[in-house]
Amino acid sequence: MRFTVAIDGPAAAGKGTIGRAVAERFGFGHLDTGLLYRAVGARVLAGERAEAAAASLSPDDLADPDALRTPEVAQAASKVAVIPEVRAALLEFQRAFAHRMGGAVLDGRDIGTVICPRAEVKLFVTASAEIRAKRRLDELAARGLDVDYQTVLEDVRARDARDADRAAAPMVAADDALILDTSEMSAEAAIAAAIAAVEAKQAG
Ligand code: CDP
Repeated sequence: MRFTVAIDGPAAAGKGTIGRAVAERFGFGHLDTGLLYRAVGARVLAGERAEAAAASLSPDDLADPDALRTPEVAQAASKVAVIPEVRAALLEFQRAFAHRMGGAVLDGRDIGTVICPRAEVKLFVTASAEIRAKRRLDELAARGLDVDYQTVLEDVRARDARDADRAAAPMVAADDALILDTSEMSAEAAIAAAIAAVEAKQAG
């Protein structure tokens, strides 16, 4: 059985939380595509060219996801993500994952528009920048990273602007995406809405 759930949206909107929960509920595989861009960004921070890093990305680059989930790597990721050659190098891997047997959930920025325009379910998860910054601050603090709210808010805003304004696969909701504004929604309610969307599609 092939079934693809595409989850897009701005930085720290809760795409990962929803994606993991949906994957677990239905036994689908889950790919956080942001990690691919973060891995390329990390190699650029280490001195490589973005195009070369993207072309030679390997599972080793993703072995320590927490090391990639830092504000510095996030900024580097959104800078390499504007480069068409970088996006092209990562495309086939994402498409193959989306079409795997047993179902797949992918979260990112361009899943419903470019990677899987025919995904069975498309969600665009969003929330106000302030709320997203607060959630990301809590996540980073829980991992022992010392950052302040204003810095996180600026990171989120800078990446949103870069991601939405770029020419190559800009962040935008697909016409047929269900928009989930989680500003005033608990994680449980957002997960329930996503699960309901998958069940509705499966039912008919
Ligand atoms: O977790 P968070 O929402 O903060 O970011 P992420 O999903 O890990 O993505 C990091 C950066 O990678 C984003 O700011 C985008 O610039 C880029 N990205 C992208 O361009 N396309 C994707 N499908 C996923 C991420």
